[in-house]
Amino acid sequence: MHMQMVKVQEQVDYEQNRQLLNRYRFVEYETLRILAGWLPATARLEFKMAMGRFLWEDAQHVQLLYQRLREMQKPVFQRPNDEPLESLMAEAINAPGEWDLLAGIYRVIKPAVVRAYQWHSAQTFANPDAPTLYALRHILVDEGEQVHWAEEALASYPAGDWEMYLAGLLAAGGGISGLEPRTPAPPVPASRVQFVPPRAAARDARFTRDPADTAGSGQEADVELERLQEFEGYSREMLAAETVALVLYLTPEMPWQFTYDASRHCYDETRHCRLGIDWLTLHGLDYTRVPQVTQVFAWRAQYDPALQYCLLTMGNEAHVFPYRHRRLKTYQQSGDRLSAQFISYDMADERNHVSYGHKWLSQLLAKKGIQTPVEEYVEQAVQIWQAEYVSKKLPIHAAPAPADQAG
Ligand SMILES: [Fe+2]
Ligand SMILES: [Fe+2]
Repeated sequence: MHMQMVKVQEQVDYEQNRQLLNRYRFVEYETLRILAGWLPATARLEFKMAMGRFLWEDAQHVQLLYQRLREMQKPVFQRPNDEPLESLMAEAINAPGEWDLLAGIYRVIKPAVVRAYQWHSAQTFANPDAPTLYALRHILVDEGEQVHWAEEALASYPAGDWEMYLAGLLAAGGGISGLEPRTPAPPVPASRVQFVPPRAAARDARFTRDPADTAGSGQEADVELERLQEFEGYSREMLAAETVALVLYLTPEMPWQFTYDASRHCYDETRHCRLGIDWLTLHGLDYTRVPQVTQVFAWRAQYDPALQYCLLTMGNEAHVFPYRHRRLKTYQQSGDRLSAQFISYDMADERNHVSYGHKWLSQLLAKKGIQTPVEEYVEQAVQIWQAEYVSKKLPIHAAPAPADQAG
C-alpha cells in the first residue's frame, strides 16, 4: 500500500488556479462597475437599494480575490486575455432596461459564478490552496444570497432575448472558468442599448419630484418639525449614493482601493436612504410622499467626477457635523432613542466619507489632469457648493458636460 499523493478530484493546478482567480476577480470587478453605472438610471427604489448592497459585496469579493492573487501574480490586476469573457462583461451593461440588466447579471452571470466557485472549491488542492478555499467559501455566502434575491425580486419578469444573448456570450467563453466547451458567439439582439453614463436620476412612479430642495425650515426651535425634516432628508440620500456611483463609474483609472472605498460610500448612502424610510415608516408616514429632489444629482452630474466628489465630500459631508451634533444632543435629551441611534450610526459613516475625500482628492485631480493644488480646489468647490447648492438654485449650466472617459 502506498499513499495516494494526488486525489483524482484535485484537477486545478497552481497555474490554472492563478488564471481562474484572475478571471473571477475580473468578473466581480466588472459587475460592480456595471451596477454603479446603472444605479442612478435604475428607477425602482428596491432595485437601487439592492444594487448598493450588491456592489459593495462584490467589492468585498474583489478584495478577497485580490489578496490571494497578489501572492500569485504581478501585476495583481490583469485582464483575463480571453475575448469572449471580456465581451460578456463589456456587453452586460448594454441591457435594454433595468429588469433585463438585473436578470442578465443575477440569472445568467451570477449563477454561473456560483457554479464555477463551487467546482473550483472541489477541484483545487485543499491544503496547499486553503487561502483560496477560505475566500471562495465566504464569497459564496453572498453570491448565493444575491442569486436568491433575484429569484424572488425578478420572479414576475420572464426571461427574454437579453438573457439568451448573455448566456450565449458566456457559453462562447467556455463559462466563467473558460474550461467548458465553447460555442460560437451569439448574434447581437435588436434590443441592445449602448450604455451611456446617466446624467439624470431615475425614480419610480410612486414618487413626486421637487424641482429645488425646498425642505428644511432651519427652524431648529420647532423640534418635531425639524426632526421630521431631518429624516425626510435621509430618505432622499439615494442622491448621494447616485453621485458616488457615477463618480466610481467614471474613474476606472483610479487605484483599486479608491473603488473599494467608493463602493462602501455608495452602499452607506443607500443605507442612509433606508434609514430615513424606516424612520418615517415607524412613525406611520409614507416615504413615497417625500418629494425627490433629483435636480441635486443632475446638478452635480454636470461636473467633472473630481468636482462631483469634492462637492459631496467637502461640501455636504464635511459641513453637516455641527448640525448633526446639535440634533443628536436634542434627541438624547428628549429620550428619543431611535433618532439618536440612527444619527450616531450615520455620523460614523459620514466621518469615513469625509476621510475618503481627504484621502483620494489629490489622486483624483491628478488622474483627471487638474493642475489646481488640492487646498485651492477644495476652496473653490466649497464656494460653488455654497453659491449653487446651499442657495438651492441648483443651476444646470449651458456648457456641455465633459466627455465621458469611462472604458
Ligand atoms: Fe449619508
Ligand atoms: Fe455620506
